Amino acid sequence: MKTSLTAAVIIGLAGVGMAHAQSLQGLPAGPLGQSIQNGYDMMMHTTTNPEVKGYIGNELTCSNCHINGGDTSAPGNFRETASKLPAYSKRENAVITLEDRIANCFMRSMNGTRPSTDSNVIVDMAAYIDWLDRGKPIATPPAPPSKPSPYPAMLKTATHADVVAGEAVYKANCAACHGANGAGMPGMFPPVWGDKSYNAGAGLANPVKLATWVKGNMPLGNPHLTEQEAFQVAMYIDTHPRPDFVLSKHLPANTTPDEYNAKVRAETDSVASNFQKAGLSLQSLTGATN
Ligand code: HEC
Ligand code: HEC
Repeated sequence: MKTSLTAAVIIGLAGVGMAHAQSLQGLPAGPLGQSIQNGYDMMMHTTTNPEVKGYIGNELTCSNCHINGGDTSAPGNFRETASKLPAYSKRENAVITLEDRIANCFMRSMNGTRPSTDSNVIVDMAAYIDWLDRGKPIATPPAPPSKPSPYPAMLKTATHADVVAGEAVYKANCAACHGANGAGMPGMFPPVWGDKSYNAGAGLANPVKLATWVKGNMPLGNPHLTEQEAFQVAMYIDTHPRPDFVLSKHLPANTTPDEYNAKVRAETDSVASNFQKAGLSLQSLTGATN
């Protein structure tokens, strides 16, 4: 049982690897092509690449969430990313660039330090994302009307029963790879909670965003959960401990407004405060009594 699961995963990952090579076919010769290739390599091997690993604070790679280097049609893809930025971001209360957006994932999803937007790390990653969007118009036309998300309404009425149901979904569909303790397996299966996972300021620390992402991506290679199951497993995962996010700790010392133009300069998030913002109590959700 265990052997066949591992074999299936290895075949799955090999398939992903072939698609990767495809997304880099036809690279321009010379320094630009090298930059795109380097950006891609850093996203795939963030924990080991010597140029980038010093900026991150957990055991995740960019491609753990932006699967296949973002070259998919599932949530987390980069297919319209370059063409829709710069754009206004409510979180920063500022207009931000592609380079800013990349750097912000370092502080939150990677629980690390914000690299300078002029650094080779960010320039190469931006070159790669631009490459994925080549030939697209710079301003994305308005998105066609899409089915409204069911998850905000589910969050409003969420209870302890959802977390309990989410635990059963997790045990049946996720624990084989990510572990009963959420820690995964280094280099193979990324941690979904705990001190080596994304912090409380990350997009996926919001169960609405996690449910959307899980519904389209997990279980890896066979995403099949119903919306309710995706939401419940997201509640189970996001009620577990993970690092707090204190913005000032993720900005290099003396960062000037020239280097980080966000108007929101102080932000602190924890697992409990994320649920508080939604009008929910972490204690009641987890059934903790005291
Ligand atoms: C734990 C999962 C996770 C990891 C790891 C992660 N990201 Fe993200 N990233 C997200 C989510 C979720 C969003 C969308 C957030 C939102 O909607 O607010 C996002 C958004 C982005 C965007 C904007 C995409 C768009 O089209 O709007 C970029 C660019 C990006 N990430 C780059 C990176 C890079 C580069 C890394 C590695 C240094 C990285 N991310 C690591 C989860 C992750
Ligand atoms: C067959 C093994 C497998 C199963 C089963 C599986 N995952 Fe994953 N999961 C992975 C791998 C591998 C990645 C990283 C993908 C990559 O890098 O291409 C991942 C990435 C993730 C991530 C983003 C990175 C992180 O650690 O935060 C989340 C969240 C996640 N999985 C949640 C789930 C949930 C929820 C389920 C069950 C519904 C599930 N997974 C089932 C293998 C699995």
